[in-house]
Formats: sequence, structure tokens, C-alpha cells
Amino acid sequence: MYRLPVKKAVIPAAGLGTRFLPATKAMPKEMLPIVDVPTVQYIVEEAVASGIEEILVITNANKHCMENHFDRNYELEERLKESGKYDLEKMIRDISDMVNIYYVRQKEPRGLGHAILCAKSFIGNEPFAVLLGDDVVINPGGKPALAQLIQAYNEKGASVVGVQTVAPEDVDKYGIVEPSLSSKSIGRRVKLAGMVEKPSIDQAPSNMAVLGRYVLTPDIFDFLETQEAGKGGEIQLTDAIVRLMEVQAVYAYDFEGTRYDVGDKFGFIKATIDFAMARPELSQSVRDYVKELASKIEREECRQE
Ligand code: G1P
Repeated sequence: MYRLPVKKAVIPAAGLGTRFLPATKAMPKEMLPIVDVPTVQYIVEEAVASGIEEILVITNANKHCMENHFDRNYELEERLKESGKYDLEKMIRDISDMVNIYYVRQKEPRGLGHAILCAKSFIGNEPFAVLLGDDVVINPGGKPALAQLIQAYNEKGASVVGVQTVAPEDVDKYGIVEPSLSSKSIGRRVKLAGMVEKPSIDQAPSNMAVLGRYVLTPDIFDFLETQEAGKGGEIQLTDAIVRLMEVQAVYAYDFEGTRYDVGDKFGFIKATIDFAMARPELSQSVRDYVKELASKIEREECRQE
């Protein structure tokens, strides 16, 4: 059982962003904004709000602007000050002061498991968190998703994957967990007997999907180092976690919060509308527009009938 606190996190951000071409031809998908904040900033904010002190981002050669985003921009700060825009100047400075962020490159796109292995020397012998940029989770008024997983880790001293129920037709998009039949679930936490990467509907052991949040013990690296390619010819984190289960307990935690698949175009659009609606300065205009749109759609549908 591990006793060390979770202070480090890994954000894999070396994907090619093919689902968002052409927007991601020259710009990393992690920089696509939801309203006016790049998606990766929401992920970093969640990590910081969950007590993470150091973050390693796994990047590739095309991700410079993400590094710049979390760095100081003295010229811009000066110009904003000169024009009296102190709020904006503070806002952009605060982004670079949030947390210590380090970067390492994944030299070949060999899958999520391989990306996490690139974090081995940064992590050392501590438990750590993984946050995937395609999954943005909000839990207004409650604990961030990662903080909930860290609490479950603190209770059990073992690895925890964050899950939520998905529609049966969506199980082939995710890592799907198999709860252990011999151990009862305690609240939102359940011990696992297995996990499968993107199974077909008839092979899926449940419809509880891993949605981009993990707390892992450093033992995972022993398995990642020897992990062979799995689904899609890639080194899968899911497969290494299954092997970890043979030597230590792994839990699933059904976290509270609304999760947006911002790696998917429709998920991204939903996030944009919801996040805009939650902004005081935009809320009313977005609501009015959505209502107007809804009645226009209704009128069109009536005409077609
Ligand atoms: C990855 C993981 C998968 C997980 C998913 C969550 O898949 O391999 O187990 O359920 O993220 O978003 P990807 O979406 O990168 O193909």
C-alpha cells in the first residue's frame, strides 16, 4: 500500500489531432479554445485545484505555442499595462504562475501507454495522476474529478481509474472496466477484475468507461516498459493497468461531474455552448440565441411535416 501523496501529474498532449483537421494542421488541438480558454488550461486548472504541484506535459515537435501559453509574455504584459488593462495583464500573468510545468517529447506516436512511459524519470517512485486533454470535466460546487480520485487513492493506497457510465453503443470508444464480483462497491468506488480497451458491444464487461482521469502507482512503469502493442497497434495504458492488477489492487471511481469529450466535434460544440452559458457576461445573449434557434428549428420541422 502506498502512503506518498499525489503531487505530480502527467498530461499527454502528443496526439496529431486528426479529428480536428484542418484546425489542427498548424495548431495543437490542446490550444483549441472553449469560449476563450484553451482546453489544456482547463485541464491544468483541474490538476492545480486537486493539489497537484508539478505537471509534465508529453508533447511533440508541433506544440511550441502550448509551452508559450504557460510561459510569461513580457511584451504583451507591458503593452497591457501601458494601456491600463491591468485585469487582462494579471490574467495572462496568472496563467504562467499557476504551477510548475515541464515538457518532454514523445519522439514517435506509439500510443498512450508509450506517452506515459516518457514520464518515468520525472515521476520517479511516487504515485501520480494522468489527465487526458480530450476529457474536460466540470463539477460546479463540488470537488474536481481528479481530487475525487486522489481521495480514493488516499483511502486505498492503490491505483484508481476515473469512470462514468456511457451508452452501450459507445463502449467501443473507451477503456471499459470489469468490476470484481467478489468485492462490493463502497460508495462510488469498486475494485476491478479487469479492463478492456475499446471492446465491441458484445465483448464489453460493463458500460463503465475510463474517462481520462487516472491515479497510478509508479509500478505501472515496469509493465509499460515491456508492454506490447495492443488495440490499433499502439502501446495501450489499459493493457499495462490490467497487468498491474495481477500484482496489486486497482480501483474504479465513478466520479461526480459533467464530462465533455472535446476531442469530438459535437462534444466540443456542446462544451462551447454550456461554458458560454455559464459565463455571466455571455449567459443572457447565449440563452436568447439558443431559444430563438429552438423555435426556428421547431417552425422548420412543423413545415416539413
Ligand atoms: C484513451 C484511452 C481509453 C480511454 C479514453 C478516454 O483513448 O486509451 O482507455 O477510455 O482515452 O478518453 P483515446 O480516446 O485516446 O483513443
